[in-house]
Amino acid sequence: FDTANREKWRPLYHHTPPYGWMNDPNGLFYKDGLYHLYYQWNPYGSQWENMTWGHSVSKDLVHWEDRGTAIAPDALGTIFSGCCVVDHNNTAGFGAGAVVAFYTSAGENQTQSMAYSTDNGQTFTKYDRNPVITAPIPDFRDPHVFWHQPTERWIMVLAAGQEMQFYSSKNLKEWTFENRFGEGYGNHDGVWECPDLMQLPVRGIDKQKWMLICNINPGGPFGGNATQYFIGEFDGHQFTCEDKPETTKWMDYGKDHYAAITFDNAPQGRRILMTWMSNWQYGNQVPTQQFRSANTIACDLDLFEHDGQTFVGRTPSKELLAARGKPLFKNSTSARRTFNPAQGAYELVMVIKPQTKGKTSLTLQNAAGEKVVVSYDVAAQTLSVDRTQSGKSDFSDGFKAVTVAPTRGLITTLRIFVDKSSVEVIDAQGKASLTNLVFPTTPYNTLLLENSGGNKANVSAFEMK
Ligand code: FRU
Repeated sequence: FDTANREKWRPLYHHTPPYGWMNDPNGLFYKDGLYHLYYQWNPYGSQWENMTWGHSVSKDLVHWEDRGTAIAPDALGTIFSGCCVVDHNNTAGFGAGAVVAFYTSAGENQTQSMAYSTDNGQTFTKYDRNPVITAPIPDFRDPHVFWHQPTERWIMVLAAGQEMQFYSSKNLKEWTFENRFGEGYGNHDGVWECPDLMQLPVRGIDKQKWMLICNINPGGPFGGNATQYFIGEFDGHQFTCEDKPETTKWMDYGKDHYAAITFDNAPQGRRILMTWMSNWQYGNQVPTQQFRSANTIACDLDLFEHDGQTFVGRTPSKELLAARGKPLFKNSTSARRTFNPAQGAYELVMVIKPQTKGKTSLTLQNAAGEKVVVSYDVAAQTLSVDRTQSGKSDFSDGFKAVTVAPTRGLITTLRIFVDKSSVEVIDAQGKASLTNLVFPTTPYNTLLLENSGGNKANVSAFEMK
C-alpha cells in the first residue's frame, strides 16, 4: 500500500492507520527509544468490524511509522482494546524486558487474554492458556495493567458494565479480584470503557494523588462519548474517590476525545496520553476515503488544584514544539489576516491579556466562508469552540456543535492545533481543552481576531513539520 497517497482530510501530524477503520489506541508503551501505539483496526474495511491490533511506532510522538498487524483474531474472538506492559523483572517468565499485551477476546463472551513479545512488540505469541479472566458479564473489557510498587504486584483495571474492577497478580498470569468502583459516582449515562489508573503529581505542592480514567459512551457533555475521570487514592486493593459522588469531571470538552489512555514505561516518569479523535455518534460516517479516524496529539498529564478541587492538567507534549516548522507570522494583532499554510496543517498560539469583563474570539475561516470560532469569555469563565459552520457536516445530525469548557483560572496562552480535519484548542497551562473534528472543503487560511471588554490578544502561526 502507498501511505504517501494523501487525501485532503488525512492529517499531517496526527497518527492515522495506513488504510481501513481505526478506533481506540491500545497497548501504548515506550522502550529503547521507541513509542509503540497499537490500535483497534479493521484492515479489511472502512467501518468498525474484524477488530485486530494494528501497530505503529514513533521516535517523537508526532511522526509515526506503520508496522502492520500485531495481533489478529483467533478462535476466542476478535481482539478488542487493551494494554501492554514491559516486564522488566521477568515476573511472567517470558524473559526480562518481554512486552506483555492484555486485550479482550470478543467472542461469544468477552474474556481477557494475553500475548507476549520478545522482540520489543513487533511480533506477539498468544499465551497458550488464554483466557486469563472470565466473568458472566456482557460488557467486560479493556484491561489496563500497571506495576504497583508499594504492594509489589501487577494491578489490572477492567471495565465491567458501569463500574471498574481491580485485579492483582504476581506473575501476570493468575489474577485475583480485589475490588470495584463506580456505583453512585460520576456519570452513568453510558457504558464505562477503556480505564486507566495512575498516580500523578499535584502542581505546586509536594503531593501525589491517583486518577482513574473512565471513558464513557454515550453520556459525554455534548453527546456521544467523552473521557471522565475520578481523583482519589489507590492502595493496591481499592480506589477511594475524593470527589463528591455527584461530581463529574471531564478531561476534554470537545466532541472528539475518547478511549484516552497513557503509555507504560514512559521515560522520566512522564504520563503521556493519546486519545481516539472521533465519536461513536458519527465515527463510521466521517467523509474520509481510504482511512477512518486519527489520534489526538500526545499530551502530558499532571494535576492542579482549583476552588478546593483537584483536576487533571492536559498539556501538549514537548515533542510538539520540536515539530514546529517556520513561523508563518508572529504576534499579529490584525483584526483580519490571511495567510498561506502550505498544507493546511499548523499551530496557532494566541497570547491573551484577560480583563475582568473581557472577551476574545478567534475565527478560522476559508474562502468558502466555512469557519470555526474559538471564544474566551473571562467573566463567564468559559472557552468555547463553534464548529456549526466548519465545513462538511451532513453525514450526521450529531456533528454540528458548539462545545464549551470551564476555564478554571485565567487563560493567558492558547495553543490551537489545526490539522487537515481537526482543531484541538488547549490552554497552554493544560487547564482546559476542546478536541473537535472539522471537514472544511479547503484549509482555513483567514483569521478574524476580536477583543472586547479590555482584552488584548495577539496570534502567531507556525507550520508543522
Ligand atoms: C471503545 C470500545 C472498547 C472496545 C473497543 C472495540 O471505543 O467500545 O470498549 O474494546 O471499542 O473496538
